[in-house]
Amino acid sequence: MSYGNSGREEVTLKGSDGSECTVNLNGATVTSWKNKGEEILFCSEKAVLDGKKAIRGGIPIVFPNFGPWELGPQHGFARIKQWKLTESVTQSGDDASSRVFILEDDEETRNMWNARFRLEYKVEIAEDSLLTSLKVYNKGDEAFSFTTLMHTYFRVDDIRKTGVKGLKGLKFEDKVHGGEHTEDREMVQINENYDRIYKKCSGPVQLFPDVDKATSCRRLVTKNLNDTVVWNPWAEKAKAMSDFGDEEYHNMLCVEAGSVSEPVTLEAGKDMIFSQTIVVDKTSKM
Ligand code: BG6
Repeated sequence: MSYGNSGREEVTLKGSDGSECTVNLNGATVTSWKNKGEEILFCSEKAVLDGKKAIRGGIPIVFPNFGPWELGPQHGFARIKQWKLTESVTQSGDDASSRVFILEDDEETRNMWNARFRLEYKVEIAEDSLLTSLKVYNKGDEAFSFTTLMHTYFRVDDIRKTGVKGLKGLKFEDKVHGGEHTEDREMVQINENYDRIYKKCSGPVQLFPDVDKATSCRRLVTKNLNDTVVWNPWAEKAKAMSDFGDEEYHNMLCVEAGSVSEPVTLEAGKDMIFSQTIVVDKTSKM
């Protein structure tokens, strides 16, 4: 374990091909994934890493509530809480390609949301892929309901050249302009403040950092995360965010796999796994 600039604990995972991934115990937030030397994730230069707020970048975990929440902070508490690292069982700590992080209910979480839970979050890098897998376990005596999402910030060179495929035909809620609509574009491109919840995706969603070349994409393969939120704050909203640079909206796009359009109910004693694998594809054609 090492200490990053923040002074908080960070864990680095290493793949056999030289890939590296950094996880900050604040929120168990993956803050960087260098696949064969290429940074795949965006993390703001203004991100606050001291645990006082969610990290603006990487993959914050949204749990137990997506969006504004009457019981606690927006997007829930999991992305703000300090998680625990479990011991690596397969490899010596410094060279592990996979680690598991734990968050359990405590007085603070129960004061917001009176549920007894245990979250086990596995992060694993392999050649051209990053797995993040969240197991939610209900250790209490009563059922509880929640929404959850992996709030992935992807790094892109130019948002105007970026496209997302796999959303055509889906119903979406437009959080900027209002209403529910159906997506009719094969390749979704973004040129304004964009905040849409695409519901019930049936196949993988692909992000193309450069639609003109379209020889490289990031493909999201998910389990129990069938909704996809696509978000970019654009210029005006970027200026209003203290932990995000005014021009950084050019270089990021959030494509967030979640289970948010309907709450999940977990009975006492049961668990459920929600996972996402980001695959870097070099040969996908349009
Ligand atoms: C997205 C939401 O998931 O997260 C947006 O759809 C929200 O509405 C964005 O603005 C960022 O949220 P936050 O709390 O990290 O600023």
